[in-house]
Parts: sequence; structure tokens; C-alpha cells
Amino acid sequence: MTETYRAMVCRRLGPPEVLEGAQLARRGLQPGEVRVAIRAAGVNFPDLLQVAGEYQHKPPLPFVPGLEAAGEIVETAADVSGYKPGDAVILRLRGGAYAEEAVVKAATLLRKPEDWSFEEAAAFPVGAVTAWTALVYRGRLQPGETLLVLGAGGGTGLAAVSLGASLGARVIAVASSAEKRAIAQSAGAGLSLDPAQPDWWQDVRADVVFDPVGGALFETAFRALAPGGRWLVVGFAGGAAPSPPANRLLLREAELIGVRAGEQGRRDPAAGAEQEKALREWLISSPSIGGPSVGSQGRPRLGAVYQLDQAGAALRRMAERQAIGKIVLRVG
Ligand SMILES: NC(=O)c1ccc[n+]([C@@H]2O[C@H](COP(=O)([O-])OP(=O)(O)OC[C@H]3O[C@@H](n4cnc5c(N)ncnc54)[C@H](OP(=O)(O)O)[C@@H]3O)[C@@H](O)[C@H]2O)c1
Repeated sequence: MTETYRAMVCRRLGPPEVLEGAQLARRGLQPGEVRVAIRAAGVNFPDLLQVAGEYQHKPPLPFVPGLEAAGEIVETAADVSGYKPGDAVILRLRGGAYAEEAVVKAATLLRKPEDWSFEEAAAFPVGAVTAWTALVYRGRLQPGETLLVLGAGGGTGLAAVSLGASLGARVIAVASSAEKRAIAQSAGAGLSLDPAQPDWWQDVRADVVFDPVGGALFETAFRALAPGGRWLVVGFAGGAAPSPPANRLLLREAELIGVRAGEQGRRDPAAGAEQEKALREWLISSPSIGGPSVGSQGRPRLGAVYQLDQAGAALRRMAERQAIGKIVLRVG
């Protein structure tokens, strides 16, 4: 084993192109840890914001971006049981996925279903956790309700379409291109709408809205919220965070609900445990890892695969609104 590994490093904040390849020194394992040879890393909008210095969590420079990955265990600490070298796993990270390897606590790993590629597995956790937190934990989505998903052709949007459909909601997808709308329909949306069409919202009465876009779309999409509806504030890919006048909430008896994926485990351990259960036994349930078979609802849909060294180009594609489904970096 060499003493260094390759990673894409952010040494100064700026556009995606500031990322550069570097050899980093390998560190030893602490109790409970495993070393994973990363085979693929998921690319997410928060990575873009972090490299630009615009994300709420600001790691000190230099840092390696990347919140999710999949790979094979190459080494385990002496006290680790249940995992061994060669096991294929999914990693959830607070950074560091854009690299050839990562050291993580074994307790944070998920097993990769045998019938998923490493690229699919790497693209799973962020979308799944965000969709679960938004729709189940914060949004209380019920079977038979109408769910409107904005940015439905993107990473979190598609995961919400998929999970919403598997929860029995009637899912309506909103996305700016025919290709994005088609992938949203293939993920489970019964109807898809083009927000560039005048009055596209006219016939929609959504009980729940999943909104990772914000910006100008909020203004029109809010008209589609049914009385008593729940608006899930997920992100602001479209730019500004909207400031809805409180009287509009009052008139509609609507709820505006903030969503922070991953936070509930720290604040509310019972909800964290519930989320873990959903991820392990339900969303990625697969006969290959002994879970009940619920089909491929949680399986990410990949839009583009780049090599690790092309991480800047992958983030550029996302910044230019060209990401359809998930973008993944292939490592090695
Ligand atoms: N709250 C949480 O816990 C949480 C977790 C993960 C991500 N997020 C946030 O959610 C947002 C979306 O993340 P994502 O991974 O779904 O991103 P994504 O895959 O890039 O999708 C974002 C969608 O936003 C729409 N959009 C509108 N204007 C855009 C612009 N100027 N640039 C880029 N996209 C634009 C696009 O849909 P159309 O082309 O159809 O308009 C795009 O498909 C980000 O703000 C991210 O930080 C929040």
C-alpha cells in the first residue's frame, strides 16, 4: 500500500475550477474505523456552494469536498466486527469523498446492494436522506396526498419524486426541460409540468411542496399550494432565498417548514434511529443484502459520470443547471 492517495483539493474558495489534484498523506486507523478504497463519489449542490464559500458548513482550507461515496473496505481497525476487507459499502461523509480513499467509523457505513453499481451506490445517501427528512420527518406526507416537486430533474428532486411515489402520494414534477421531466416521470411522477408555461400552476392543488429551488419559482409555485398545505424549504439552487409575506401563509393556513437533512439525528436521536432504519431496511432494501424487496424506488438515476480529476467540470455542469439526475465521479 502506498503512503499517499490522490484527492481533489480546494485550497482557495472560488468557482469549480479552483479544485486541483494532490497526493495526500494516509493516516492510521483509530478504534472503530475502516479504510475504504473509494470507487465512486456523488456530486452535490452543497459541494459547489462549499467550494464557493457559500455553504452554512465552512470547512477550513484546504479541504477535500464530497459528502457521499461508495467503495471497498481495504483495512479495518482491530476492534471492528461485522465488516471485513473486500466488503462493498456506501459512505456518508461531512467532506472528503472526492478522493481515492477515506477513513470512516464502521458504524456509519451502509452496505452496497449487489445489484447496484458503485456509481449508483455513491449517488444514494444525500438524495435519500434529504427526501426522507423532507417528506417523512418534516412534511408528514400521507398516501393519497398530492406532492409537488420543484427542480424534479435534479438530485434531491428526483429522490423526492421516487420516495413520494413509493409512499403512495400523487406526484407532480416541475422541471425546466423535456429531458428532466421525462426522467422525473420515469422515477414515479404521474404528471410533469414546465414552469415556463404561463399559468402552469393553475390546475394544481398540492398538499405538500418539495422546494430545492427557491428564487423566482417560489412566487408562482406558491399559488399551487392547497389550503392547509405544507411547503418544504429544502434549498435555493435558483438563487435567492424567498421571503414569503406572512399574510399569504395566514390566508392559506399554510405551513412553511425548514428541512435540514442529517440534523435530526443530532437533535432527536429517536428520529435519527428511524431514519437509519428507513435507509438500511427500506430505501436500499434489496434481496442481495437480506432486506425485503420493494423494487428499485430508491435506486439513483445517473445523469453523467466524470473521472475524479474532472471534478471541476462536474461541478461546472451542476452550476450551469445541466445536471439531470445525479452526477458521479468515477475513481480509479
Ligand atoms: N436542506 C437540506 O438538507 C439539503 C440537502 C441537500 C441539498 N440541499 C440543497 O438543495 C438544492 C438543490 O440541490 P440538488 O442536489 O437537487 O441540485 P441539482 O441536482 O443541481 O438540482 C437543482 C435544480 O434546481 C433548479 N435550478 C433553478 N435555477 C437553477 C440555477 N440557477 N442553477 C442550478 N439549478 C437551478 C434546476 O431545475 P430546473 O432546471 O428544472 O429549474 C435543477 O435541476 C441546493 O440548494 C442544495 O444546497 C439541501
